[in-house]
Amino acid sequence: MTDKKHNNPLMPEGNLDRRDLLTGAAGMAAALFGGQAVAGAHRSAPVELSDEDKIAKPVGEGAQILVTGANRGLGFEFTKQYAARGAKVIATARSPERADALNALAKDNPNIVVEQLDVTDHAAIEALAAKYEGTPVDLLLNNAGIGGGIENQFFGKMNYDTFDKVMDVNVKGPMKMCEEFRKHVQNSTLKKMVTVSSSQGSIGSVRSPLLYWYRASKSAVNMCMVNLAYQMQRKKVIVGLVTPGATATDFIPEPFRKQIEGIQTPEQATEDMMRNIDRFSLANTGTFFDYTGEIVPW
Ligand SMILES: NC(=O)c1ccc[n+]([C@@H]2O[C@H](COP(=O)([O-])OP(=O)(O)OC[C@H]3O[C@@H](n4cnc5c(N)ncnc54)[C@H](OP(=O)(O)O)[C@@H]3O)[C@@H](O)[C@H]2O)c1
Repeated sequence: MTDKKHNNPLMPEGNLDRRDLLTGAAGMAAALFGGQAVAGAHRSAPVELSDEDKIAKPVGEGAQILVTGANRGLGFEFTKQYAARGAKVIATARSPERADALNALAKDNPNIVVEQLDVTDHAAIEALAAKYEGTPVDLLLNNAGIGGGIENQFFGKMNYDTFDKVMDVNVKGPMKMCEEFRKHVQNSTLKKMVTVSSSQGSIGSVRSPLLYWYRASKSAVNMCMVNLAYQMQRKKVIVGLVTPGATATDFIPEPFRKQIEGIQTPEQATEDMMRNIDRFSLANTGTFFDYTGEIVPW
C-alpha cells in the first residue's frame, strides 16, 4: 500500500499519478466555469530550483521562530529546545497568565517572548501579525492542536459540535496563521512554515475505526499544506508537515499511555521533529515526515 515515492506531489518522482488527477481537475473546472481557464485548477508549471534552493538549512542560532500552543506539551518543548539552540522564539499561548512553566522559562531567557493567542480567534491572529509587521519569521510552527475527546467520536454517538471545534483549531488555525504571517516568513532567511500533523491523518495507514473528527482534521490540514506548498513555491517559502508519533503529553491521558508501546517523551519527540524540520528545503517542500524521518503515506 505504501508507496513512499508518491507522498510528495511536488517532487519529480511523485508526478506520474498526479498528472492525470490534476489534468482531470483542470478539465472539470473548465467544464464548470464555462470552458474558462481557472487559476489554480491547472497543474502548476515546474519551478526551477537553484542549487541554493535545494540546500536544507537548519533552524539554529539567531533564527526567529513563532510557535502556537507553547505553554505545555510539544509546544513548550519546541520553545525550550529552539531557545537552547540560540533561536529567538515568539511563544504563543491561549492563556499566558496561567502558563507558569513557559513564563518561568521566558524569565530566564531573553530570546523568548510570550504572546497571547487563541488560534481560533482570527482577529487576534491578524492583530499579532500586525504587531510583528516587519519582523522576519524564519519558522512559523503550527503546533497547537486538540483531539476533541475520544468520547465525542464514537460512531452512533458522534458529537457534531466537536467536529467544528476540532476543525477550527487543527485546520483553520494553521491556515489562518500561514495567511497572516506569509509576508513575515517570505521576508526571512529560512522561510519555513511547518505544521504538526499526525499519522492519524494518514488515510493510507488507517487500520481501525478511531477518532473520526481528529483524523479527518489532520487529513484536512495535510491537504491544505500541500496546496500551500504549491502556492508558496515561487515565493521560495517551504511548507512542511511533521508528526511526533505517540508522545506522553496531556494529549494522551495517563491511563492510555501505558498501553502504547514505544511512546515517546516530549523531549525526544521534539528533538526528532526538529531534526526533520531542519531537513526541509524547496526540494522537498510539501513532504510529511514522521519522527523517524520516514515519509508518511497520505
Ligand atoms: N501527543 C501526541 O501523541 C501527538 C501525536 C501526534 C500529533 N500530535 C500533535 O502535536 C500537537 C501538540 O500536541 P501536544 O501533544 O503537545 O498536546 P497538548 O499537550 O494537549 O498541548 C496542546 C497545546 O495546544 C494548545 N491549544 C489548544 N487549543 C488551542 C487554541 N484554540 N489556540 C491556541 N492554542 C491551543 C493548548 O493550549 P491550552 O493549554 O490553552 O489548552 C496546548 O498548549 C498537536 O497538533 C497534536 O495534534 C500529538
